[in-house]
Amino acid sequence: MNVLMVCLGNICRSPLAEGILKSKVDRSFIGVDSAGTAGYHVGKPPDPRSINVAKNRGIDISQQRCRQFTVADFDAFDLIYAMDSSNYNSISSLARTKKDIEKVTLLLSEMNLKNTDVPDPYYDSDDGFEKVFHMIDQACEVIATRLND
Ligand code: 4NP
Repeated sequence: MNVLMVCLGNICRSPLAEGILKSKVDRSFIGVDSAGTAGYHVGKPPDPRSINVAKNRGIDISQQRCRQFTVADFDAFDLIYAMDSSNYNSISSLARTKKDIEKVTLLLSEMNLKNTDVPDPYYDSDDGFEKVFHMIDQACEVIATRLND
């Protein structure tokens, strides 16, 4: 089972989602990665504010490197989680088949928060990163409980 977390830049939200889900699942059975729909930051580490908020909770995401989502990800991953509806639409627009589209889910729909976005914290204060961490953490708890079953 392979899970991909996707946001816009792959430096704020999806690196957190990757690190948080990895911390909750048995990694010998479950692969977790992240990507961005945009290519602005390819090759860069996560935003220092994301690195810090994760570090404060014992999760090291500093070794992650940004990459852009590609069509091949529909083949490599079983579940693709979009952080917000804009990301969802960008990913869906690249889908080749119904099967591709069916792999894509809004992250917060896992908590019955349908059509609710994880807000982009890039232009926000550190507090925004705390809030985003908490939202992603709750959703990943639900996902991990199911995947670890
Ligand atoms: P992310 O946040 O999608 O959570 O990684 C962003 C990071 C960078 C930009 C936008 C969103 N940017 O425009 O550079």
